[in-house]
Amino acid sequence: MTKKKIAINPAPIPPYQKEFYSWLYESNRLTKLFDRQWLLNLLSFGYNQKLAKSVLDEVSPHSKVLQMGVTFGEQMNDLADKIGIYGKYDVVDVSTTQLRYVRNKYRFIYPYMNFVNRDALEPFTEKYDVVVCYMLLHELPLPAKSRLINQALSGLTPGGKAIFIDYNNMVWWHPLKWFVKMYNRLYQPFAERMWQTEIKDYVTDRQQFEWRKTTYFGKMYQKVVVTKKSSLF
Ligand SMILES: C[S@@+](CC[C@H](N)C(=O)[O-])C[C@H]1O[C@@H](n2cnc3c(N)ncnc32)[C@H](O)[C@@H]1O
Repeated sequence: MTKKKIAINPAPIPPYQKEFYSWLYESNRLTKLFDRQWLLNLLSFGYNQKLAKSVLDEVSPHSKVLQMGVTFGEQMNDLADKIGIYGKYDVVDVSTTQLRYVRNKYRFIYPYMNFVNRDALEPFTEKYDVVVCYMLLHELPLPAKSRLINQALSGLTPGGKAIFIDYNNMVWWHPLKWFVKMYNRLYQPFAERMWQTEIKDYVTDRQQFEWRKTTYFGKMYQKVVVTKKSSLF
C-alpha cells in the first residue's frame, strides 16, 4: 500500500458519514473528548476495553495488519504493541481529521504504523495476515456493509483472519434492549441491521472461510473471526 500525505487529495467523505457521523469525526474538539478510555468504557458498559483485548487474542506478533477505520481509546495502541516492530500496521480511514489525530498520537511511538487516507470500500491491492474492522459495520448502510465485509475478506492471505467487532442482537430479556433500540433509531439508523443479519450472510463464497462467533454482555456485542482456508494447490 502506498503511503499518502494525509492532506493532499483527501478521499471524499461518504454520504452516510456526512449525514450521521461527521459531527463527531470531523470535530477535533469532540474527537479529543471521546478519546478517553474511561469514557468509552462508561458508554459501552465496560466492554470497550474488553472487546479491544479480545482482538489481541487473535493476532500474532509480527503480523501484517490492516485496520479499517481508526478508533478512539487504547484499541490501536494495544494492537500496535501486540504486532511489534517486526510487523506492519496499516490504518485506513476516510476522514483526514481522524487520521491526523491518530498520526499525531502514534507516529513517534509506532514507526511500523502507516496512516492511509482512503475509502475502505475501494479494493485493496495488498494482502494481509489480519484485517480488523472495529465498531465500523453498524455505521454503514446496507450496500456499504456488504461491500466492506467482502473487501475485508478479499484482503486476506491464505490462513489470514478478518476480525469484526460490532453490535449484535441482544437476548430478549436484556435490560438495556429497549434503551439501545431507541438510541439506535434516533442516532444510529444502520445499527439495527446488525441485529437482523449475521455477518456471514453478506458473503457469497463463505465456504472458503472458517467462521467463529463469540458474543459478549448478553449478546449485545459480537466478535466474528473469519479465517481464510489455505488451499492445497
Ligand atoms: C472504525 S469506526 C470507530 C467507531 C468508534 N469511534 C470507536 O472508536 O469505537 C469509525 C471510523 O471509521 C471511519 N470510516 C467510516 N467509513 C469508512 C470507510 N468507508 N472507509 C474508511 N474509514 C471509514 C470514520 O471516519 C471513523 O474514523
